[in-house]
Amino acid sequence: MTQVETNGFEETVEYAKKLGKVLKGGEVIAYFGGLGMGKTTFTSGLCEGYGVKAEVSSPTFALVNEYGSTKKVYHFDMYRISTFDDLCSTGFFDYLDTDAVLAVEWSENIENALPENYIRVEFERGDTDDSRILRISGDKVYEDSWC
Ligand SMILES: Nc1ncnc2c1ncn2[C@@H]1O[C@H](COP(=O)(O)OP(=O)(O)O)[C@@H](O)[C@H]1O
Ligand SMILES: [Mg+2]
Repeated sequence: MTQVETNGFEETVEYAKKLGKVLKGGEVIAYFGGLGMGKTTFTSGLCEGYGVKAEVSSPTFALVNEYGSTKKVYHFDMYRISTFDDLCSTGFFDYLDTDAVLAVEWSENIENALPENYIRVEFERGDTDDSRILRISGDKVYEDSWC
């Protein structure tokens, strides 16, 4: 497990870029943490680092946003997902077995459906308005190469 504190969204973007750079495709990045913690912000840095040009925005209404062409990132919002059928309807399982990167907001709601070797990113508020504590765990290979 690795823990960092970021101050301001720019630092979260920079940190996420580092993770994006070491992704190979096929990874699941599962975010945990409430509204306004920086999950969407993190995803924009992740895409940039991974080399996918995208206007990253919250997939609140669509449930999933698709970014990229040859390299793909699927960005999910699981806030309103409560049943297995709901989850299936997002395409989560279809994309899981591809070489796309899956970035999943509100993973709390689908924790049981996450694959064995996902990368877990937990967000917590820090001492100030612009401070966030990020805790990353999961695949040790990634921790070693970017933290
Ligand atoms: N350290 C930080 N990291 C990320 N976002 C931050 C930070 N400090 C302040 N913010 C602000 O918090 C908000 C995070 O929004 P967003 O990324 O959409 O959160 P979420 O997707 O978790 O709801 C943005 O308005 C951003 O500017
Ligand atoms: Mg969001």
